[in-house]
Amino acid sequence: MGNELSRRNFIKATSTAAGIAAASGINPRSYAANEKIRLGIIGAGKQAQIAHMGQGLRVNADQIEIAAICDVWSISRNSAQKILKESEVLNSDAKVYIDYKEMLDKEKLDAVLIATPLFEHYPMVIASLEAGCHVFCEKTMTMTIQESRDIVEKCNETGKFVQIGHQRHYNPYYNKAMWLARDKGMIGRISHITAQWHRNESWRRKLPRDYTPTAEDKKYIKDLDRHVNWRLYNDTSAGLMTELGTHQLDVASWFLGSIPTKVSGMGSIEYWKDDRDAEDHTALLYEWTVKPGDKGHFPVKRRTSRQSEARLNSKYKVRMTYSSICTNAKSHYGELIQGDRGAFSLMGESGLRFHAEPWYQDYLAAVAARKAGKKVAAKTSKSYIPGAAEDAGIEIPVWTNAAQTSTEYDVWMANHNQWTAFANDVKNNGMPKANQMTGLISAICGHKGNEAIRTGSTVDIDPALMKFAFETPDPHRFENVEGPKPGDKKKDEPDAPAADAGEATDES
Ligand SMILES: NC(=O)c1ccc[n+]([C@@H]2O[C@H](COP(=O)([O-])OP(=O)(O)OC[C@H]3O[C@@H](n4cnc5c(N)ncnc54)[C@H](O)[C@@H]3O)[C@@H](O)[C@H]2O)c1
Repeated sequence: MGNELSRRNFIKATSTAAGIAAASGINPRSYAANEKIRLGIIGAGKQAQIAHMGQGLRVNADQIEIAAICDVWSISRNSAQKILKESEVLNSDAKVYIDYKEMLDKEKLDAVLIATPLFEHYPMVIASLEAGCHVFCEKTMTMTIQESRDIVEKCNETGKFVQIGHQRHYNPYYNKAMWLARDKGMIGRISHITAQWHRNESWRRKLPRDYTPTAEDKKYIKDLDRHVNWRLYNDTSAGLMTELGTHQLDVASWFLGSIPTKVSGMGSIEYWKDDRDAEDHTALLYEWTVKPGDKGHFPVKRRTSRQSEARLNSKYKVRMTYSSICTNAKSHYGELIQGDRGAFSLMGESGLRFHAEPWYQDYLAAVAARKAGKKVAAKTSKSYIPGAAEDAGIEIPVWTNAAQTSTEYDVWMANHNQWTAFANDVKNNGMPKANQMTGLISAICGHKGNEAIRTGSTVDIDPALMKFAFETPDPHRFENVEGPKPGDKKKDEPDAPAADAGEATDES
């Protein structure tokens, strides 16, 4: 651990989120109330420009100053600088670097955003933590599971955290759904999850027109198509499972409070038969074994006298079917979480619908009638009828003001909230909800899914992958948060230009 504290003291201290730095023997830096965090950005491409500089960092500019940006590509550097210059709130004097190590060396940074292609995350996260910075790393955390484990170790050693870019942890709809499921039992015992990310496009970005590489570009970028379309190649990305699937596998693990125990799956290139080697169609089956004592374990009462309540409430299995395809966009992206009392559908990160199970509604009505001394009404329905009310469900709002609609604020609010929370956690020595352990879980899910696809076998997932010799942060926190209230910061920011005019429009 590189400090004088004994392991016992360490464990005691880290049992509160705020204790991590102190437990590592590192004096956490204190901030004045109005002091800004100095942030460096490594990888100023599309996600950094649109979701972060264009939304989250702009709205939190009173807390976070973009002190420096770094990118190896002149096109990204130039468009990122343009965003800074044209903004009234962002720091137009941010220093610009090509080499991230030089940036870490020369700038006194408090934190770093890493938004580079997946294969670059690991060395950058490690170097940033070693430079004494907290890190915001885009998903997926790393190219291998071992690298993610190394990052958890490095956080422990340095007393810094990694917030992972699974923004659903900061989305009021997801937090509300978690709270209703976990604390209120609204959907009962979760028994099945269906999730998909369906698009009808090649996933290939167009290369910029009228572009002449600079001398530096030539030094760093040997193949422009590979540089821009890194998602399509297995040596720079791990394909659909890490670029899209991990968001939703993260959600499933969050709701179930544990990691899956098995996965099988198939995948191949079936349509976009160009030079890519990452699959364009995948279909997988994940299995969780939920045990008493697990956070997601939900005891239930028996519904017939033939059922054994003891067996019913011992360990049980939950499965998730997952598909990601590139030839049909029906159902687009989202998760359907089905329990024995009802289901939640969370579609496109911008809404929460509840679908009541008819039997449970009848049961609740019967209980209420009996309590009131009234006659129990006949059962209203026994099953779903396509198109019936249960099928369509009801919208669950997250707003304090009933007039507020979800169309005004949607995905972007998670982009805002995650940076508000990041600033707060850096300044107050906190621990992100989507922390390095959350990043490890989704890396395990994504990479084990690929292993199942690529070996054609059912792969067991060892729970020991989550074990460490020190206390680790809770990866599954949630809060019943509300969306922005009227008068809060509005969606007033312009869309940042992308680094290219690519044809791929729907990317995680
Ligand atoms: N959370 C989300 O919903 C979400 C959405 C989109 C992308 N992402 C993630 O964000 C990351 C970036 O994705 P993107 O779409 O912005 O990719 P991008 O290709 O548009 O941007 C990556 C940038 O990194 C730069 N870069 C590459 N190597 C570098 C190096 N060694 N040093 C400095 N800069 C380097 C590139 O020049 C480019 O500008 C990926 O991890 C991706 O999975 C997350």
